[in-house]
Amino acid sequence: MLTTGPLVEGFERALAQSIGARETIACSNGTSALYLAARALGLGSGHTVIVPAITFVATASAPHLAGAEIVFADVDAESGLMRAQDLEAALARAPHGRADAVFPVHYAGQSCDMAEIAEVARLNRMKIVEDAAHALGTVWADADGGLLPVGANAFSDLTIFSFHPVKTIAMGEGGAVSANDPELIRGLKRVRNHGLTREPLEFVRVDAAFDATGAVNPWYYELESAGFNWRISDINCALGLSQLAKLQRFVNARRVLTECYDELLAPLAPLVQPLKRDPRSLTAWHLYAVRINFGDAGIERAQVMRGMATDGIGTQVHYIPVHRQPYYAERYGATSLPGAEAYYASTLTLPLHPAMSEVDVVRVVRALKKQLFGLEKKPPARSA
Ligand SMILES: Cc1ncc(COP(=O)(O)O)c(C=O)c1O
Repeated sequence: MLTTGPLVEGFERALAQSIGARETIACSNGTSALYLAARALGLGSGHTVIVPAITFVATASAPHLAGAEIVFADVDAESGLMRAQDLEAALARAPHGRADAVFPVHYAGQSCDMAEIAEVARLNRMKIVEDAAHALGTVWADADGGLLPVGANAFSDLTIFSFHPVKTIAMGEGGAVSANDPELIRGLKRVRNHGLTREPLEFVRVDAAFDATGAVNPWYYELESAGFNWRISDINCALGLSQLAKLQRFVNARRVLTECYDELLAPLAPLVQPLKRDPRSLTAWHLYAVRINFGDAGIERAQVMRGMATDGIGTQVHYIPVHRQPYYAERYGATSLPGAEAYYASTLTLPLHPAMSEVDVVRVVRALKKQLFGLEKKPPARSA
């Protein structure tokens, strides 16, 4: 079997076990996982979904393509994460001051404060879908000393993951939704497969579904809603299973490299600073993003990126705030989100991959210093 066979189920079980969820539903990529989540929760036309502005466009476009309108929330300018206060401010800007769901993003792998976000969502009767495309392997340490893996849905209805090759585990393309509610699990499976069901308990055309003895007709299926094919193949899941077995090794390697970056970059503060950290997030780092005061450095970000590329080092910007993208800016008009703007103005993502060594990190930092201070110049003395 090459698709929706035993390896898909095997991967789903192994993933559910690793994140402490009742079930996971694997699908073609993280974008379809977001779409499945939106549809399974019944989000569509007439609904409003709040999405942080610092994320990949898919976090907004998936619920939007399910029919919902999007209100963008601001983020903390130092961590890139949406906070409860950002959610409240977005709610105040939403039509009639209300929204149906929020999709918090665990940017770079660091968990948002889901307890606080969930409190606001609960008071406003909103559904929660965690976008954990970056955060497989991250664990939240709660106030009572409990360890809550991202994906266990301790504070949310659903969590989505992406297994795109740059993510913590790779499947070529791949995604998953984790869920605990049996009704949502059934809905996710239907949406993944054209909106079809083969579950006898779900059939509505009883006369067509069952024969005279009450046995289900072996060929029978029903269409509950019009849908697409968002399935994943056994081929991808074979890779996913082998990658999942190495998850902790990947997470540890990323942590060691992150600590190495922190140490080597510390003397460059306050010109170059790491993301603000929340000690309660035991983070599986997906991105090593730094904040650079390019104005004070007297150099444009594009120039730094081009210079580092000349030295063979790829860098990136995660992300252009989604509310600034022409499609959303034209649809919703200009929105002032100063935290997201400030974050965007300063951020630069440096290479982070478990196959890197600490020597590679030294090389990256040297190349960054070369761009910021020139070959000869020394970094400025660190301010208190
Ligand atoms: C935060 C976030 N959400 C969703 C996605 C979509 O995942 P995929 O590329 O697997 O469709 C990505 C992928 O880059 C992402 O970074």
